Amino acid sequence: MKALVLSGGAGTRLRPITHTSAKQLVPVANKPVLFYGLESIAAAGIRQVGIIVGDTAEEIRAAVGDGSRFGLDVTYIPQHAPLGLAHAVLIAREFLGDDDFVMYLGDNFIVGGITELVEEFRATRPAAQILLTKVPDPRAFGVAELDVDGRVARLEEKPAAPRSDLALVGVYLFTSAVHEAVRSIEPSARGELEITDALQWLIDERRTVTSTVISGYWKDTGNVADMLEVNRSVLELLTPRNDGSVDDATEIIGRVRIGGGATVRGSRIVGPVIIGAGTVVENSYIGPSTSIAENCRVTDSEIEYSIVLSGSSLLGVGRVEASLIGRNVEITPAPPIPAAHRLVLGDHSKVQISA
Ligand code: DAU
Repeated sequence: MKALVLSGGAGTRLRPITHTSAKQLVPVANKPVLFYGLESIAAAGIRQVGIIVGDTAEEIRAAVGDGSRFGLDVTYIPQHAPLGLAHAVLIAREFLGDDDFVMYLGDNFIVGGITELVEEFRATRPAAQILLTKVPDPRAFGVAELDVDGRVARLEEKPAAPRSDLALVGVYLFTSAVHEAVRSIEPSARGELEITDALQWLIDERRTVTSTVISGYWKDTGNVADMLEVNRSVLELLTPRNDGSVDDATEIIGRVRIGGGATVRGSRIVGPVIIGAGTVVENSYIGPSTSIAENCRVTDSEIEYSIVLSGSSLLGVGRVEASLIGRNVEITPAPPIPAAHRLVLGDHSKVQISA
């Protein structure tokens, strides 16, 4: 069995909370979301992985390398434009051969991995097996409709009026039957060859498409609240470890991981918290569910339930909460408000000013 990991697509530099140009490299608990997928694939006993890369190929290659540190053998498959998930399968034909494979979307996060699903698929070998999860707004996803027996009856990509709240999760298991399907479909209204249409083609051809409903799913939608929440849930499972230096004036409570070369002085850290390599924390409070990446500086500050990306600093700032702070950001106190109001007011004016 092989894996096809989709890490192509256009860069996301224009997104309002962009912190990296490849969305698959968004960090969760200081680790790119893509790495969790690769680890899950390795844990399921798969070695040969094809990674689809697009605009951000260099960034993905620099992060993943040859895959050996995940126990994987990685082949990069360039895609000249993001022409759809089924297009990715088309161009990976040579790599995939006639083997069964798991297709894993690089910006998806599945709590608990995929080992059981892969085992179930290996035992039953339907033409395709999909994962579904209940979401509050299915319009941003592929949506599945199940029949009374729980079989997949119909799939629709990003419907304006969803017929169920079951969204397609970005992990699909396929036999080689999918190759005929991806060759048989036409581009959708958004100009992409949709894997959802390929799955519908298999259903129409009366091939077996099974589904499993899971919980514990997240994808990078650019929503800060969701990102803080997935960061929190991953930190809950953190194994405490100290590879840095912590002085006697520091108090560490709960699950805290401190990276190599990090320094913590005169501070209070209440876990779960992860502090990246080379980061310096001085006279500060770091509260639960916070990830601080590498080479940051936190001095005379307080931060809780937040994510700070590499190279950023908080210098002398009061409590920062529920925040996502990008790379190389500097946060310092605002200058004091002028003590006097200077006014030029017309006759009969009524103004309210702070006392
Ligand atoms: O995340 C789950 C959803 O993924 C499913 O519910 C949808 O049915 C499915 O179509 C897909 O929807 P998105 O529109 O959100 O997919 P997105 O364009 O974000 O691409 C998913 C991943 O695949 C992302 O890591 C980029 C990569 N990709 C995407 C396209 C279109 C490629 O590598 N090549 C491509 O051509």
